Amino acid sequence: MMKEVVKSNFVDLWYGEFLLKDTEDKDYWALLNQCEKKKAATFSRKDLQQKYIKTRGIVRIILASYLNSDPKKIIIKTGEYGKPFVLDEEIYFNLSHTGNKLVIVVSNCTNVGVDIEKCRFRKSLPALVEKCFSDTEISYWNALPEKQKTHMFFRFWVRKEAFVKAIGRGIAVGLNQCVINPDNQNYFSYIPIDYGFALDWKIIDVLLDENAACAIVTKNLEFIFNQKLI
Ligand SMILES: CC(C)(COP(=O)(O)OP(=O)(O)OC[C@H]1O[C@@H](n2cnc3c(N)ncnc32)[C@H](O)[C@@H]1OP(=O)(O)O)[C@@H](O)C(=O)NCCC(=O)NCCS
Repeated sequence: MMKEVVKSNFVDLWYGEFLLKDTEDKDYWALLNQCEKKKAATFSRKDLQQKYIKTRGIVRIILASYLNSDPKKIIIKTGEYGKPFVLDEEIYFNLSHTGNKLVIVVSNCTNVGVDIEKCRFRKSLPALVEKCFSDTEISYWNALPEKQKTHMFFRFWVRKEAFVKAIGRGIAVGLNQCVINPDNQNYFSYIPIDYGFALDWKIIDVLLDENAACAIVTKNLEFIFNQKLI
C-alpha cells in the first residue's frame, strides 16, 4: 500500500552579513529581471544600490534552491503595497536589512513577514512608544527597568513590523493596531479585523546577536523552524 506523504510546514530564516565588493556585484546583476534592474538604477547611493542588487541576487539563489530551478527564471512580482512575491509557486518569502545584516524568511505557507533592527538608544523612543504602541504595551514598557527599555522597545517594534510585512500592507496599517500580548509575547492580543483572529498568528523571536532584534510573523501555528546561514 502506498504511504501518504504528509507535507510539513516550514519556516526557514536565512541570515547573513553584507561584504560588498564591486566584482561580486556583476554576478548578482545578471540574475535580476528588468524591474529589479530598473529599481536598482534609482538608487543615488552606490552602497545602497549594491546592497539591493546583492540582496535580490541572494533571494533568487535561495528561492531557486527550494524550487529546483534557475535563479534567473524565477518570476518575482510586487504586490500593491510593495511586498515582493514569487508568481504561481507555493513558496513565500520576505526580507529585512539593518546595517550590514540581512535576513530572508522562506516558507511554504503564505503570510510570512520578517523584520530586523539594530537596538540603539534614541531620545525619541518614548514618543515612538506613545505613537506606535497600544495602551497595554505602553503600560508594560513604562514599567520596565530603564536599562531594559531600549532592547524591549526594539523587540516589540520588530514583531509589529513583521506583522505588517506578513500581511503585505506595510506600516500604513498602523503599528498601534497590532498589539502584542505582554504576558505571552509570541502572540498578538489584537490585530486589525480584516486579518482574522489575533491567535491565528504566531510570532517567532529570533536571537541573532545581542545588538539586533529580529522577529518573524506567520499565519501558521504548526511548522518546523530552521535557521540557516547565507
Ligand atoms: C515594508 C516596510 C515596513 C519596510 O520597512 P523597513 O524597516 O524600512 O525595511 P526592511 O529592510 O525591514 O524591509 C524592506 C523589504 O521589505 C519588503 N517589502 C517592501 N514593501 C513591503 C510590504 N508592503 N510588505 C511586506 N514586505 C515589503 C521588500 O522586500 C523590501 O526590500 P527590497 O526593497 O530590498 O526588496 C515599509 O517600507 C512600508 O511600510 N512600506 C509600505 C509602503 C506603502 O504602503 N506603499 C504604498 C504604495 S507602494
